[in-house]
Amino acid sequence: MIWQFEKTSLDHILATFYPDTQIDLLDFACGTGRIMNYFAERTRQAVGVDVSPSMLEVARNNVGKGRIIEADLTREDILGDRKFNLITAFRFFPNAQPELRIQVMRVLRNHLADNGYIVFNNHKNTGSIRNRLARLCGRKKYRGMSTAEISDLLKESNLNVVKVYPLAIFPASEKRPLLPIFILRSLETILGWIRPLRNMGGNLIFVCSRKMN
Ligand SMILES: C[S@@+](CC[C@H](N)C(=O)[O-])C[C@H]1O[C@@H](n2cnc3c(N)ncnc32)[C@H](O)[C@@H]1O
Repeated sequence: MIWQFEKTSLDHILATFYPDTQIDLLDFACGTGRIMNYFAERTRQAVGVDVSPSMLEVARNNVGKGRIIEADLTREDILGDRKFNLITAFRFFPNAQPELRIQVMRVLRNHLADNGYIVFNNHKNTGSIRNRLARLCGRKKYRGMSTAEISDLLKESNLNVVKVYPLAIFPASEKRPLLPIFILRSLETILGWIRPLRNMGGNLIFVCSRKMN
C-alpha cells in the first residue's frame, strides 16, 4: 500500500526535478534494489550500495540495469570523486543511530552533483498521527526519527529541503488499512493539502539540495 503511494511521489519527483534530464543514480542502502529497479528506465547510470551480502544477492537478480556494490561507504568510500545528480536513501535514516546518520549524510553530500538532489524518507516519523495516537493509548515509546532530528541532520550536512511529500497521514497500516486503497489515496491527497498535517505523515519523503554558500 505504502509502496503504491511512494511510487506516485517518485514519479512526481522525476517529472518536477528531472524533466528531460539524464539521471545518474546512487541508491544508498539499496537493499534488494526496489528503488533502483523503479528508476531503471530513467537512469543513464545507476549504482546501488549496501552492506548486506544477502540483500545484494537478491538485488543482483532483481536489478536489470546498474552496478551493485557491497561496501560500507562510511568506512571506505570506494566511489572516490564520482558525482550523482540523484541520490536516494530509503528506509535507512530512522533505523540508523544518530552518529551513523551524520556520517552517511556527509558521504552522500560529497557525491552529490551541484544540480542534484538527495531523496530520502522517514518511514518512522515520531510525529505521525499514528504514533501520536499510539502514545495517547499508552503504547511504549516508538523508535524512529522526528522532524527536528531531520532538520538538525540536514543543517549539519549543509543541505536544504526543497520539497516534502507527506504519505500515510491517515493512520492506516498494511495490517489495518481501515479503508479501501482507492479511498485512502484520495484521502491522503486531501489531508496533504492541510498544512499543519503535512509533518504528521507516517512516511515523509524529503527532496534536498546542496546549500550554496
Ligand atoms: C530496510 S532496508 C531498505 C532497502 C531499500 N532502500 C528499500 O527501501 O527497499 C535497509 C538497508 O540498509 C542497509 N544498511 C544498513 N547499514 C548500512 C550501511 N552502513 N551502509 C549501507 N547500507 C546499510 C541494510 O543492509 C538494508 O539493506
